[in-house]
Amino acid sequence: MASFTLFHLSITIIFLHVLVSATPSSSLSEQLSIPTHFLDFAKKSETFDWMVKIRRKIHEYPELLYEEYKTSELIRAELDKLGISYKHPVAETGVIGYIGTGNAPFVALRADMDALPMQEMVEWEHKSKVPGKMHACGHDAHVTMLLGAAKILKHHEKDIQGTIVLVFQPAEEGGAGAKRIIESGALENVSAIFGLHVMPYIRVGEVASRSGAMMAASGRFEATITGKGGHAAIPQHSVDPILAASNVIISLQHLVSRESDPLDSQVVTVAKFQGGDAFNVIPDSVTIGGTFRAFSKESFNHLKQRIEEVIVGQAAVQRCNATVDFLEEKKPFYPANINDGELHKHFQNVAGSLLGTDKVIEKGPVMAAEDFAFYQEVIPGYFFLLGMQNDSSEKLPLLHTPHFRVNEDALPYGAALHASLSATYLLKHQHDVSIVEGKYHDEL
Ligand SMILES: *[C@@H]1O[C@H](CO)[C@@H](O)[C@H](O)[C@H]1NC(C)=O
Ligand SMILES: *[C@@H]1O[C@H](CO)[C@@H](O)[C@H](O)[C@H]1NC(C)=O
Ligand SMILES: *[C@@H]1O[C@H](CO)[C@@H](O)[C@H](O)[C@H]1NC(C)=O
Ligand SMILES: [Zn+2]
Ligand SMILES: [Zn+2]
Repeated sequence: MASFTLFHLSITIIFLHVLVSATPSSSLSEQLSIPTHFLDFAKKSETFDWMVKIRRKIHEYPELLYEEYKTSELIRAELDKLGISYKHPVAETGVIGYIGTGNAPFVALRADMDALPMQEMVEWEHKSKVPGKMHACGHDAHVTMLLGAAKILKHHEKDIQGTIVLVFQPAEEGGAGAKRIIESGALENVSAIFGLHVMPYIRVGEVASRSGAMMAASGRFEATITGKGGHAAIPQHSVDPILAASNVIISLQHLVSRESDPLDSQVVTVAKFQGGDAFNVIPDSVTIGGTFRAFSKESFNHLKQRIEEVIVGQAAVQRCNATVDFLEEKKPFYPANINDGELHKHFQNVAGSLLGTDKVIEKGPVMAAEDFAFYQEVIPGYFFLLGMQNDSSEKLPLLHTPHFRVNEDALPYGAALHASLSATYLLKHQHDVSIVEGKYHDEL
């Protein structure tokens, strides 16, 4: 009964606020003119050339997870030059910047900073100068575009109706940097968060995303299957872990094909098989490892439990012992990427007026994972893909390959999208705070 009354009270307050918020400062036409205005700003050679320079500098000095010290330093130097205040260090190398009034509402924009342990194979002037490390996932471009957004937003700071929180996050590649950012409490009062990823197979000037489940939850497992080694020609004196591991792998295939709902997408892949190094010796043990994916928590936890049962049980059939390690300490499980429905509508409006509605592509879900999902577990969040493919050049190589290249023509689009998504979000939600406060006052 009490909640019924309260519900009516807040409905009344929302109606009042709809009337109050119909002020010129937040009119729909102004909200819709921001994106094109910001894109023009981002494409100006002063902004574009500055971004290109930053991106190439970061590309030359790639740093792996939780070691993004130089990248972090570069970010802080640019924020200093722009006169933007920030918190540092957050989660080891992270930087959190603030633009706007300093008061609620708060909306966050996220960029990841880490590179990958691989050797760049692209020959160009700004090739990675660090052997064995490379920005092969485009995080150099992500950092650059968030700095680009910072420049745009700082220039228009007096029009910002709240606070934009810039999140430069470490360790997306397996280190769950997003989880540590949340644990730091830095995003406590933030009411929405946006993130993007460059994508080679989408055209530059286009974006793709969807409402709801977009990427899967992801976990790893490693198992050691122990038998008894011996001469390969006298198998009766051995307990063969190679055969046991082979049967384990076959049995693991049945989890998705026989135990899960065909309409509830899941993956179990054994991607690692190590054991034995002679033609005539049965080894003592074999190590296998792989990944498992699902969209719902229930399916994910069920897979985890069954993977362990099947490995231990199937190994026992062949007289072997097995231990299973899910490596959660070093590589936490990533939750599923679930895009908020309201933010999807907001994205369609903003990206539609920035790029044209035909450039905003509805995307199917994929089983890849992204640690942006950690934010979405605690804050309404929205993640989208930013196109890079240029019509007039050959097909860009995929992410995580040594030939990966960023099309710098995409930088202004990412910067302008970040800036307009956040600025218009605040215009739309500038009165939400007083609704909440008003409600509490009425209750007292
Ligand atoms: C969030 O808001 C509360 C109440 O206004 C404040 O005490 C707290 O410091 C804020 N947290 C952050 C991280 O800004
Ligand atoms: C498996 O473990 C049991 C109990 O520790 C042990 O007795 C047995 O020898 C082990 N088998 C192999 C093949 O290592
Ligand atoms: C394609 O890329 C090249 C080099 O990056 C650039 O000169 C050209 O303007 C681009 N074309 C289009 C249509 O964007
Ligand atoms: Zn990656
Ligand atoms: Zn990435």
